[in-house]
Amino acid sequence: MSAFLEVEDIYKSYFLNGKRIDVLRAVSVKVEKGELVSLVGASGSGKSTFLHVVGTLDMPAAGVMRFEGRSVFDLSDAEVAEFRNRSIGFVFQSHFLLPEFTAEENVAMPALFARQDRKAAFRRARSLLERVGLAARAEHKPGELSGGESQRVALARALMLEPALLLADEPTGNLDPATGEGIHTLLREVNRDLGITAIVVTHNEALARSMPRRLRLKDGQVSHDG
Ligand SMILES: Nc1ncnc2c1ncn2[C@@H]1O[C@H](COP(=O)(O)OP(=O)(O)OP(=O)(O)O)[C@@H](O)[C@H]1O
Ligand SMILES: [Mg+2]
Repeated sequence: MSAFLEVEDIYKSYFLNGKRIDVLRAVSVKVEKGELVSLVGASGSGKSTFLHVVGTLDMPAAGVMRFEGRSVFDLSDAEVAEFRNRSIGFVFQSHFLLPEFTAEENVAMPALFARQDRKAAFRRARSLLERVGLAARAEHKPGELSGGESQRVALARALMLEPALLLADEPTGNLDPATGEGIHTLLREVNRDLGITAIVVTHNEALARSMPRRLRLKDGQVSHDG
């Protein structure tokens, strides 16, 4: 049986002003369904690059990625886009909420884009906002939310289409420790209650250590972090 997610020998470099930066150098990792994995590493080590490649937002120079046995980089552009929309939820380093829409509308947006039933989408958006403790802020626009609240809205939005895989890039960046711990607790709940597999990049070593499995990105490679 193949693993839920298999990443094999991924290479990724950036080229800027004639200089080459080799960020990922033969990264290989397997993640089983239902796992909750933290990924740590120094600033600039390639954690965001890795998440972008796994999330098919960026193509690697070489390497293979299989998702439930399917070789993702062999799919057509349309199939990759479909895979990304259906199977992956992102929480980015910056929350990227749409400023002119309310929290509830932001959460519902992925379902509206997918042309799902509007009423059902808003019902689900409400219940997700409740889950992240923000039912009372549903009508607030991003400018009327705190940083931690915005991150929770972004998490609710990432869960809107019930992704099989959640990729979170420092969802607690710029938050005070207690608020950060609240987001991590939410991620653990989502993983446990909804069975969503998650990879969480964090600079917070204590929070990373509280995750069942820990990975470290160093010198272009991913390894077990003890
Ligand atoms: N578009 C780009 N063009 C050129 N170099 C880039 C580009 N994006 C990232 N890099 C470089 O690639 C390296 C890895 O970047 P990445 O964003 O993956 O790091 P990171 O581990 O997420 O860091 P942080 O913890 O600060 O978010 C860095 O040295 C960065 O300067
Ligand atoms: Mg980053």
